[in-house]
Amino acid sequence: MAYKITLIPGDGIGPEVADATVRVLEATGVAIDWEKVELSASIIEKSGTSLPPHVLESIERTGIALKGPVTTPIAGGFKSVNVAIRKQLDLFANVRPVFTLPGLKTRFQDVNIDMVIFRENTEDLYSGLEHEVVKDVVESLKIITRYASIRIARYAFEYSKKNGRRKITAVHKANIMKLSDGLFIRCCREIATEYPEIAYNELIVDNASMQLVMRPETFDVLLLPNLYGDIVSDLAAGLVGGLGVVPGANMGENHAVFEAVHGSAPDIAGHGIANPTALMSSSILMLRHLGEGAAADRLQRALAKTFREGTHLTRDLGGSCGTNDFTDSVIHNLD
Ligand code: NAI
Ligand code: MG
Repeated sequence: MAYKITLIPGDGIGPEVADATVRVLEATGVAIDWEKVELSASIIEKSGTSLPPHVLESIERTGIALKGPVTTPIAGGFKSVNVAIRKQLDLFANVRPVFTLPGLKTRFQDVNIDMVIFRENTEDLYSGLEHEVVKDVVESLKIITRYASIRIARYAFEYSKKNGRRKITAVHKANIMKLSDGLFIRCCREIATEYPEIAYNELIVDNASMQLVMRPETFDVLLLPNLYGDIVSDLAAGLVGGLGVVPGANMGENHAVFEAVHGSAPDIAGHGIANPTALMSSSILMLRHLGEGAAADRLQRALAKTFREGTHLTRDLGGSCGTNDFTDSVIHNLD
C-alpha cells in the first residue's frame, strides 16, 4: 500500500527542488500517495496566518510531511512557518545529520565527518518571552524544563542505540548559566546512565565550536539546547558544504516534518538551476523513518555516485548543470 504523505513544495525554488525529489523517490519504487499542499508568502499574506489551517490539517492527517522552503512575508509581522509548524505539532526534536559527501569539494574533503545533531526545539531562549523592562532595558527569558530536556536527551540516546552510534556529546554553558544549562546537563547525565553502552561526555559550547572546526571527525552525536543547537548545526553544515546539501528533520511523538534547511532562494528561483540535494537528503531521512532503509541506502549511494563523478553538479557546487540534469543523473545512478 502506498504511504500517504503531505508534500509542501513551498515557493521560490521550493517547487523546483520538490519536483526533483518526488522524481527520485518515484524512481526508487517506494509507492507514495502525495497530499500536495500549497503554501507560499502570498497564501500566508492572504490567509493572515503563518500556518493556514489546511496545511496543519493535512500533516495531522498523514503524520508525515516533506517540506520545501517558504518565503517569510516581510510585511505584517508574520512568524516563520517553520516555527509555527514546530509549535503546533510539538515537534520537539530537530535532527540534522552532517556527513561528508564523497566527491564534493569542501575545505574538509579529506576528513570523514559523520555526526548527527539533536537540538531541543521548543524552549530555551526561543520561547519568545521578551519584554522591555524600562526604556532601553530589555529582558529575554531563557526557559529550560526538566520535561523538555529529558525528552530530547532520551530521543538522542534512543536514536543512537538504534543506529549504532557510540558517543553522545552534550553541549552547554553551565559554568555560567548554572541553573538553566545546569538543569539541561543534569537531565542528559541522568538519561546517559540508562545507556551504559553509549559513551557520554560534555563540552562547553565555545570549546565545542572550536573542536568542531579543528577535529570534526571526532564527533559522533551532539545533544544541545535550542539556541546553541541552532548555531552549532549551521556551523557543522558549513564543514560539509553548507545549507544547500544538509538534510533536516523535525520530529514529534506523532508527527515528522522533513525539510531542506535552506531558504526559498528568490535570486535563482524559476531558472531551473537550484540544487535539490538538501531536499533529496531530507527525503532519505523520511524513507528511513518509514522503515524503507533499502531504498534510503540506494538513494544515498546514487547521490554519492553523482558527486563522485562530478560531471552533473549544479552551479552552486561549481558545476554547470540545471536541476533536471542533476536529477536525471541521480536517477541514472540508482543501482
Ligand atoms: P536562502 O537559503 O534562500 O539563500 C541564500 C543563498 O543561498 C542564495 O544566494 C541562494 O541562491 C543560495 N541557495 C539556497 N538554497 C540553494 C539551493 N538549493 N541551490 C542553490 N543555491 C541555493 O536564504 P535567504 O535568502 O536568507 O532567504 C530567502 C527566503 O527564504 C526568506 O524569505 C526566508 O525567510 C526564507 N527561508 C525559509 C526557510 C524555510 O522555509 N525552511 C529557511 C530559511 C529561509
Ligand atoms: Mg537556524
